[in-house]
This record gives sequence, structure tokens and C-alpha cells, in this order.
Amino acid sequence: MGIFKEMESEVRSYSRAFPVIFDRAQGELIYDREGKTYLDFLGGAGTLNYGHNNPRFKDALLRYIEDDGITHGLDMHTRAKAEFLEALQKHILEPRDLDYVVQFTGPTGTNCVEAALKIARKVTGRENVISFTNGFHGVSMGALATTGNSHHRGAAGTTLGGVTFMPFDGYLGEGIDTTEYLDKVLSDGSSGIDYPAAVLVEAVQGEGGINAASLDWLRNLSEVCKRHEVLLILDDIQAGCGRTGQFFSFEAAGIKPDIVTLSKSLSGYGLPFAITLLAPELDQWKPGEHNGTFRGNNLAFVTARAAIEHYWTDDAFEQSIQKKGEYIRQRFDAINKKYAGGQFELRGRGMMRGLACDSGDRAGAICKAAFERGLIIETSGADDEVVKTLCPLTISDANLRRGLDILEASFAEACADMAITESDAGDSKADAA
Ligand SMILES: Cc1ncc(COP(=O)(O)O)c(C=O)c1O
Repeated sequence: MGIFKEMESEVRSYSRAFPVIFDRAQGELIYDREGKTYLDFLGGAGTLNYGHNNPRFKDALLRYIEDDGITHGLDMHTRAKAEFLEALQKHILEPRDLDYVVQFTGPTGTNCVEAALKIARKVTGRENVISFTNGFHGVSMGALATTGNSHHRGAAGTTLGGVTFMPFDGYLGEGIDTTEYLDKVLSDGSSGIDYPAAVLVEAVQGEGGINAASLDWLRNLSEVCKRHEVLLILDDIQAGCGRTGQFFSFEAAGIKPDIVTLSKSLSGYGLPFAITLLAPELDQWKPGEHNGTFRGNNLAFVTARAAIEHYWTDDAFEQSIQKKGEYIRQRFDAINKKYAGGQFELRGRGMMRGLACDSGDRAGAICKAAFERGLIIETSGADDEVVKTLCPLTISDANLRRGLDILEASFAEACADMAITESDAGDSKADAA
């Protein structure tokens, strides 16, 4: 442990919550150096939708390496890239009637957001971008300006400009459609809001607290953007690649964003990889204008293609995600009633679920108690008050149940002071799956 304290920057974060040395991992299980097994409900913060070291992709990757396939090729044409693009087109874009050009950006989420912001500003000739309260889009300067969280913004050390924040769905309470406010200010030349190039949004805000926009709100947002000729950028870095029950988080709303950002689980294997999908008419880049040495990670092309071809050629995987998502929702609902008298708030969609507690301290205590019992799970939200699960979508039913049992025991321990009466707890027994 000493080596980390001695050599690693203070900026480290997850390692503080889980102070062990991890060694191996398979599927939803991760093992520390002492051989202790943990269930992983953090899932690389949304990067391990298909689990750790998924054997289906591992074989393809090992074969590729064994054959001396290209590992690094800048943005040159490679066989691996061609095969990834073919799979993306055939199994993801075409069946959804989506027409996008693929831009390979630097391999992080924040870099594909930078590319999206730059092209939107370049094409429209406007600077301002609308982002939303509690939005998280990365920590490089352009993306950071669109991120709401003051902890992250505070580290910029300079002015973060060119962005106006609007209330996300639910921010002003139930029954208020905040897209009406956006519509209003965009219609009013004296609103004081500089006419924007784009609106940047997550359909389900991950880091911001698992806030799921309603499908109506997303549709209305898309309509407002169309009406005012403002581009819609959908950040699907965390909520995409199946997390909400379909490949894209916006599919259920039936909308077609102008630009989509994807990263995290795109490679399927935890390998760094990011793309920005652009409506063809927006592809007005000059060669190399947004470049980067690691555009297009060939090893990630191999595993991303394997992931698409294994999980996305029919709807069986989608159905299993929706079923497991509903099970998580039921268990969260029962836990909330039983240990918090229904005072906590259930959030999310599909297998992107959270329980918003009464404080960050409470949520932290729950995660700590879970870790002691062998479950890795983290918080999100403005005050870290939301216990969120991002377990692999491929998790077995038995391990999903086991993880939620551990979580339930951890809630029981950390909420013991809440003095819930029988009537508060209501019919939680009946609800428990
Ligand atoms: C929605 C969203 N956008 C962008 C990012 C930034 O991605 P990265 O950390 O790979 O730069 C994240 C990371 O959590 C995210 O959740």
C-alpha cells in the first residue's frame, strides 16, 4: 500500500473508498491480492457493461495480438477499424434507421465531448452551448464548462465560458416541463441567453445522481431544438451501450440527436475508446483539425466489434437488461420502504438505478458497509447522496440477487437510526422480489 501513498498523486479517488490492491477480475467478480472476492456494482463507472475480461471478446483480442494485428495506427485505415465500422453500421445504426458519420476522437469520454462541442460551434458559427443542471460531461476545459459540479469546476483555475445552464427535467419539481422555459428564452431576443450552437444533454444523468429524464421531456427537448435550429448533442457515454435497456439511451424516446457521444462500454473490455457520431451534413471538419495520437484504439476495435456481434444482433440482450432492471427497481423500492420508510427516492432507468438518500454521509456509510460485506458500489449526485448501481449487464441472476442482498443488509445497518415503524415500512415484504 505504501507505494501508492508515496508515489501517486493526491488526485486519486476511488482507491480511497476501496483501499485494497485488486489483482484479477472475471465477469462481475473482482479479487484482491489477498484472494478476497468482491461483487462489482461499480463496473468501471459504466465501462464494464459486459463484465470484466468477457471471455467472448478476450479470445478475439488474444488472437488479434497473437497474429501481430496493428495495435497503434494513428487514424490510418486498418482491418480492425473496417470490421468495427461494418458491425456498427450493420447491427447498431442501420436497424435503428440512424445515419451518422463516425469520428474517432482521443480515447476518453471528455475528448469526444470536446469534438462534439467544437464541431457544433464551427458549423453554426455560434459559441454558446446549453447544458443542464447536474450534467457531467468530463473534465477537460471545454467539457468542464458544460459540467455542473462545483468540485470539478473549481479545479479549472480559469473562467469556464460559452455555456448557459438550464434546469434539467425534474429540477424545478414535478409537473414542470423545463423545456418550456428553454423554448421561451430561445424565442425571446431579450432573454439574455446568447443564441446557442447546441444543447448538450444526458438522457439519464450518471454522475449527477441517476436523474432519468422522462421520455416526453426528451421528445420536447428535441422539438425545441428543431424549432430553433439548435443542434442536439446526446451524451451517451455513461447511459449508452445498453445500460438503460436499449443500445442508446434515447431510443425509447424515439428521437434522433444530431450528434451522439459514446465511450466507456463501447470497447466492451474496458479498453479506452471514444467516438462522436455526427449527422453527415455536420461533418465539416478539415483533415486533422481535431486530432490526437490515440484516435482509434485498434485493440478496442476488435473487442467492440465482438461485443456488437455477440450481444446486439437480436433483442435477447435488451430483454434481459430490462428484466434485470425491473428486478433492481423492485428491490430498491422494497429497501426504501423497509429501511427508510419510503423517504428515499428511487431513480433511473434499465440497469442504471440509484437510491437517493437523505445525505451524502448516509449514502457513504451504506457503500462502506457494503464494501465490508464484499460489494463494491459507489455514490453519485451533487452531495454524493445517491447510492448507484452500474453492475455489469451480463451479471448472473444469482449474483444480482446476492449483490442486492448485501446492499439490503448495508442499508439496514446504515439506516438503523431512522426508526421506521411497521406502517412506514408498508407492504415492503410483498414488494420484495
Ligand atoms: C455522461 C458522461 N460524459 C462524459 C464523461 C467523461 O468521460 P471520461 O471520464 O472518459 O473523460 C463521463 C464520465 O463519467 C460521463 O459520465
